[in-house]
Amino acid sequence: MRRLSIIGIGAGNPDHITVQATKALAGIDVVFLIGKGEDKADLAQLRKDICARYIKRPFRFVEAQDPERDRKPADYGAAVADWHAQRATIYERVIREELGASQHGAFLVWGDPSLYDSTLRIVDQVAALRTVAFDLDVIPGITSVQALAAAHKIALNRIGGPVHITTGRQLAQGMRGDDVVVMLDGGCAFNTVEADGIDIYWGAYVGTADEILVSGPLRQRGPEIEKLRAEARARHGWIMDTYLLRRN
Ligand SMILES: C[S@@+](CC[C@H](N)C(=O)[O-])C[C@H]1O[C@@H](n2cnc3c(N)ncnc32)[C@H](O)[C@@H]1O
Repeated sequence: MRRLSIIGIGAGNPDHITVQATKALAGIDVVFLIGKGEDKADLAQLRKDICARYIKRPFRFVEAQDPERDRKPADYGAAVADWHAQRATIYERVIREELGASQHGAFLVWGDPSLYDSTLRIVDQVAALRTVAFDLDVIPGITSVQALAAAHKIALNRIGGPVHITTGRQLAQGMRGDDVVVMLDGGCAFNTVEADGIDIYWGAYVGTADEILVSGPLRQRGPEIEKLRAEARARHGWIMDTYLLRRN
């Protein structure tokens, strides 16, 4: 039977990788790299370094391109569902054609597969097609949210309180809760929030050598983060940032 592991690799620090992940990697024959064609070289390199370090047998990379995604669809949900269906077709083909009947393949997922990552959903879709059978396991990784909290030396929740994790797009519709973690923010959606009484704990490239951290009252720190963010994005050509908004 084919084996497939979905492995969380942490959010940018090579030391984020867990012992469980290194044990799984040791036996991998094929690593699937499904890119968007615009993948950042540094992030692709981290994946390759992890494989070189932990895979203990001859293995190969199988690369495929993601389908194009409509970035301004009239119906966001339908567009994402359609995009996932197209991706499932690609995943199904590479698993069926590139993984031998008794081989072990892996998808290396940034951070942890449970958080804003579609690999699990797509692999479920592949399994439902019943055209290729495989045993699946999922190995958790350190999310960028955990890395952010550790970098700022903070707990995410107040005593007994909830934490809301959301996207920049959703935050722009309103801040839901007093402790809100924002990911996937293409702009500076914190600007849409009434700043008085809110603290921000912001981090970009968290866990990497380029990490930038800023914290303090949103009213003062917001403009500073906006400037730092634009400069860093121009310097690197890309940015990944996450932040906690905390109502006092
Ligand atoms: C597609 S999501 C993937 C999240 C990932 N599965 C996780 O567990 O962190 C990408 C978003 O994660 C956040 N992110 C990932 N790595 C990061 C890092 N090293 N520093 C700051 N934010 C990061 C950013 O908000 C980015 O827009």
